[in-house]
Amino acid sequence: MELWDQIQEAASFVRSRWSRRPHAAIILGTGLGKLAQRIESPAIIPYEEIPHFARTTAISHAGQLVCGLIAGVPVAAMEGRFHIYEGYTYQQVTFPVRVMRALGAELLIVSNAAGGLNPHFARGDIVVIEDHINLMNGNPLIGPNDDRLGPRFPDMSQPYDRRLIDRALEIARKENIVAHKGVYLGVTGPNLETRAEYRFMRLIGADVVGMSTIPEVLVAVHGGMRVLGLSVVTDMCLPDALQPINLEEILATAAAAEPKLVKIVLGILADEAERLCAAKRR
Ligand code: HPA
Repeated sequence: MELWDQIQEAASFVRSRWSRRPHAAIILGTGLGKLAQRIESPAIIPYEEIPHFARTTAISHAGQLVCGLIAGVPVAAMEGRFHIYEGYTYQQVTFPVRVMRALGAELLIVSNAAGGLNPHFARGDIVVIEDHINLMNGNPLIGPNDDRLGPRFPDMSQPYDRRLIDRALEIARKENIVAHKGVYLGVTGPNLETRAEYRFMRLIGADVVGMSTIPEVLVAVHGGMRVLGLSVVTDMCLPDALQPINLEEILATAAAAEPKLVKIVLGILADEAERLCAAKRR
């Protein structure tokens, strides 16, 4: 079956469980899981039930789509995402974004945990992604292009919405949250990087490195969505003072930063609520 038909089938199924049109699609990565609890009168749909969604493997957590309202804005949120390092294909990783787009979402908010390469950053800081470098070994847009989904050669001169970047930084400042603008570099993982790799990544202009987000953002931009990307710096990756990875510490840092990300996203959605009201009045 063609990708287009698969997307329509999945979207119809979601619509049969939740009839609203989502304004925003949200990917709750490490550090944003708790936002799901802020979704009012949620319709919760396990990924297993949605046609053509990837089956979650034993290694990944069971995921679900949580649809409902935040700050009066209809949202569809992915609680749990698919990673390339788990063995999913780029098509599988990005399929949910296609579906949320087909349902009507025009904005993608995506979060992740990332290693800090910029020595001015610190563990627990928030990075508002202003650009990215794709060093993953693939791209979800490879293959025949369906012009109904987007253009053959999507422009990437501004994948992350400038207004959303500025607003996210403004909200952070008001809430006394340390947030930086930065370039996200994506790798597949699952291994962490060598010192030589971290040195190289810093040299080519990256501020943070992580194992997700880029495939989903490519598909969102292809589909004409505005994108806001937020990283939590869970560990510092300084090649000349590199410590062995401490996974517990990374997860603890992500958990501790969760309220910061939630505040920023709630602020952004409050803005969107105003935009939607203004559009209605016009
Ligand atoms: N590299 C890749 N992904 C990560 C890292 C890292 O150092 N830290 C958290 N996610």
